[in-house]
Amino acid sequence: MIAVATFRLPGSALRRCPSQVMMSFTTLQQRNYKSTQAVERPEEESHFLLILGPPGGGKGTISKKMLKDFSSFHHVSTGDLLRQHVRQRTALGIKAKGYMDSGELVPDNLMIDLVMEDATPYLEAGQSLLLDGFPRTIEQAMALEKVTHIDVVVNLDVPTDTIVERLADRWIHPASGRVYSYSYNPPKVVGKDDITGEDLVQRDDDKPEAIRKRLESYANITAPLVKYYEDKGLAKTFSGTKSDIIYPQVKKFLESTHFFS
Ligand code: AP5
Ligand code: MG
Repeated sequence: MIAVATFRLPGSALRRCPSQVMMSFTTLQQRNYKSTQAVERPEEESHFLLILGPPGGGKGTISKKMLKDFSSFHHVSTGDLLRQHVRQRTALGIKAKGYMDSGELVPDNLMIDLVMEDATPYLEAGQSLLLDGFPRTIEQAMALEKVTHIDVVVNLDVPTDTIVERLADRWIHPASGRVYSYSYNPPKVVGKDDITGEDLVQRDDDKPEAIRKRLESYANITAPLVKYYEDKGLAKTFSGTKSDIIYPQVKKFLESTHFFS
């Protein structure tokens, strides 16, 4: 049996601007769109785009490219948000660290609150959302659907060998989440962030055992979401090994929908 988590708006967000937030969620909730092609919407409305794909599949890389072309989006990367909590040693960060380091998923209730906490101010400001790494379970997807309607799902399909090579070569600047790799987008100075000059590090979950666990969780728990969104007529899959080749196809697809032209 599937347990459906309740998707709550954080109280602080409701106090800040109740009518606007509730309006954006309820108007979206009332809709029942089946296709990304068949709907016309007023230009000023917020849109909801999900990017799905395996660990190291290029979700963050493609998201950054999208933000340059579709600037009204706010990018919510749940992995980046969690790593920020871990660095700041918040209560959530302390709870989440063990799951993350071993490559397991963080419990649904924590994730749902985390996403809404981050996203609500941007929704209040009328921005659209690009969700990267959420939802990652059917429970999260169902909770999301209770409060909003997804416009488009971009699914990245990248071979496992490529993923393993990429993750071994990934270096990050922890404070900003900037990502480098020596074979794809190397830093200007070896081991240093381009902007701050601070040290680059490898993610704790990019160790071989955690990568194996993340790939397993993806295959067993997250990959079924692709079919879930395909059945709703929302998902489009892009396969390949190079983000620079995949991204122009993603862009063309998004421009062909009514939502992002
Ligand atoms: P998260 O940070 O989301 O990790 P992930 O899904 O495993 O994905 P990654 O961020 O590792 O990869 P990516 O697809 O963004 O690829 P990237 O662009 O960096 O989540 C971490 C953890 O948090 C989870 O394991 C879980 O514990 C927890 N969590 C998060 N969300 C959750 C949720 N909703 N529910 C429960 N738990 C949750 O690219 C990878 C590398 O490849 C980079 O080095 C990049 O430079 C390189 N690269 C990209 N394109 C190319 C190319 N064309 N050629 C060569 N290299 C390339
Ligand atoms: Mg990422």
